[in-house]
Amino acid sequence: MSLLTTSGLTKRFGGLVAVNSVDLRIEENETLGVIGPNGSGKTTLFNLLSGFFPPTAGRIFFQGRDVTHLSPEERVKMGMVRTFQLVSVFNSLKVWENLAPCVAWKSGMYHSLWRFMTTPAASTWADSLEALKLVGLEGQAEAIAGELSYGDRRLLEIALALSLRPKLLLLDEPFSGLSDVEIAKVLALLKSLKGKITIGIIEHKISMIVDFVDRLCVMNEGRIICEGNPSEVLTNPLVNECYWGKQETLERAGVSGV
Ligand SMILES: Nc1ncnc2c1ncn2[C@@H]1O[C@H](COP(=O)(O)OP(=O)(O)O)[C@@H](O)[C@H]1O
Ligand SMILES: [Mg+2]
Repeated sequence: MSLLTTSGLTKRFGGLVAVNSVDLRIEENETLGVIGPNGSGKTTLFNLLSGFFPPTAGRIFFQGRDVTHLSPEERVKMGMVRTFQLVSVFNSLKVWENLAPCVAWKSGMYHSLWRFMTTPAASTWADSLEALKLVGLEGQAEAIAGELSYGDRRLLEIALALSLRPKLLLLDEPFSGLSDVEIAKVLALLKSLKGKITIGIIEHKISMIVDFVDRLCVMNEGRIICEGNPSEVLTNPLVNECYWGKQETLERAGVSGV
């Protein structure tokens, strides 16, 4: 049984069909790449999977359970965790304080944010530090998050996601806005997770993930137009067409670098 499946998943915004009857499957411990030109519906698909938008039609199953109408929080409890295209951390908090509510929530200690922030349990500090170690940020635990580089804030965001012990980690363009050095750091971290948890990764630049993913899924105009192993997908004429049809996008996608 696949870890996640969707059937006929659809999202309309007025007259626009952002996600159009998508049947997706993600196998346990697989790394699935989702690619496609700008505006093809990748982020909307992840918003549907993570419960941020209700679908217009269709169903989502996680571990065989229908989660279509569960809240994002209920999905996180089940192990479905996502990150965002723009890094989402609490800039005014210390690095370790960013982790603390997640760690406490996961251990069932989280009742009141205020009480928690004023008197965090020692175990929360230790667990937060453990999560930071996973991404190599333990030396910056006391720094203010907003003062970290963008790449380190991306690592912090991934640490936040990991502290929730995901079975399925959905990453929306984790390399966007990062320098080459920062990309190498994030990629090394993701490689260390590969095969241990299930990963769904959206990436605009195909060349970035082609060697990393087990399978690629290509979206265009809200539909999955092709899926399979990366080399098959990249030689599929439909994929070339959807990128070649949008010359500007193609260059940004780094297709020539593949
Ligand atoms: N909240 C929204 N309201 C209205 N239209 C949206 C919303 N989110 C996305 N869209 C539209 O849906 C389409 C797909 O967008 P998106 O999923 O962000 O694409 P991608 O992530 O592949 O670039 C685009 O035309 C976009 O303008
Ligand atoms: Mg997007």
